[in-house]
Amino acid sequence: MKNPVEARKKGRINVVLTNKPVDQTGHGDSHSFTDHDNEEHDILKRFEDELEEYVGLEEVKRLVKEIYAWLYINRCREEQGLKVSKQVLHMIFKGNPGTGKTTVARIIANFLHEMGVLSKGHMNEVERADLVGEYIGHTAQKTREVLKKANGGVLFIDEAYSLARGGEKDFGKEAIDTLVKAMEDRQHDFVLILAGYSREMDYFLSLNPGLPSRFPIAIDFPNYTTDQLMEMVRRMLTERQYELTKEATLHVKEHLKRIRYEEERTFSNGRYIRNIIEEAIRMQAVRLLREGSYDREALLTIKRNDFQFHSSHVKVN
Ligand SMILES: Nc1ncnc2c1ncn2[C@@H]1O[C@H](COP(=O)(O)OP(=O)(O)OP(=O)(O)O)[C@@H](O)[C@H]1O
Ligand SMILES: [Mg+2]
Repeated sequence: MKNPVEARKKGRINVVLTNKPVDQTGHGDSHSFTDHDNEEHDILKRFEDELEEYVGLEEVKRLVKEIYAWLYINRCREEQGLKVSKQVLHMIFKGNPGTGKTTVARIIANFLHEMGVLSKGHMNEVERADLVGEYIGHTAQKTREVLKKANGGVLFIDEAYSLARGGEKDFGKEAIDTLVKAMEDRQHDFVLILAGYSREMDYFLSLNPGLPSRFPIAIDFPNYTTDQLMEMVRRMLTERQYELTKEATLHVKEHLKRIRYEEERTFSNGRYIRNIIEEAIRMQAVRLLREGSYDREALLTIKRNDFQFHSSHVKVN
């Protein structure tokens, strides 16, 4: 089989097909499409709408459509007495802080639940400390407990590369082995998503040659462009019923342009935007109290000086 991560780089999602029939997953039929869904593609529409609220994320939007189409067609094949294939849906999310990895994992957990792939659809987000123990045997026990909680949903491991931190002798290796075993074990019903910085994740996968093929879906979450960040600003403000003056818009844009460049690797993208918006809202409130202006126009408007990037409490990363 082709290295799926390599295939991904060529702009294609390489999904591994196995020959196991769908019913071997042990998932019931209760979440399968109803006739109504068959006609309307209701679930797909709903999730596409939800994803449309987010800026960019084109790869994710494509992936959701692909998984939907595959499951839908499987259903049609089943009705015709044709073989249906099972796919491996474990994923790698690569990207810098605040690029939407956790948000997307949560949406995918819900989506897979509604599509009948996952029985519960919750997401269990963990990191190295939740998996790795302090003495021999402790790690396998901790990891198994985490797996138990994740059953029926998505297990999301943030900064997954840190599991390889200490090399062969480190207990992180034991956690990886336990996870791999669970992925092969038919009794488990979960989707594993490993997330982390792009470079570190590539290195991590290169250290564990058995791993890449177990994660056929790799999605890049690139840093957002200045225009995309500005679009987030606009959406977040509209949602909260605020407006920026022209001067404030230019001020924020200039700032984002600079900071994206200066803090390239640690800049926290969407999270930073949310934080500066929330801070500006607080600053506006303080200003309005000081000015004693409470009319509708004043309440709606955020001005240039409501963004105090230099004396801000908001961290860039
Ligand atoms: N494309 C987007 N459109 C709108 N908001 C976004 C987008 N991407 C991220 N955000 C917002 O940015 C914040 C951070 O996103 P999230 O926690 O999913 O990032 P992350 O990649 O998991 O970060 P980290 O690696 O630091 O855990 C959230 O409030 C999210 O709603
Ligand atoms: Mg996250």
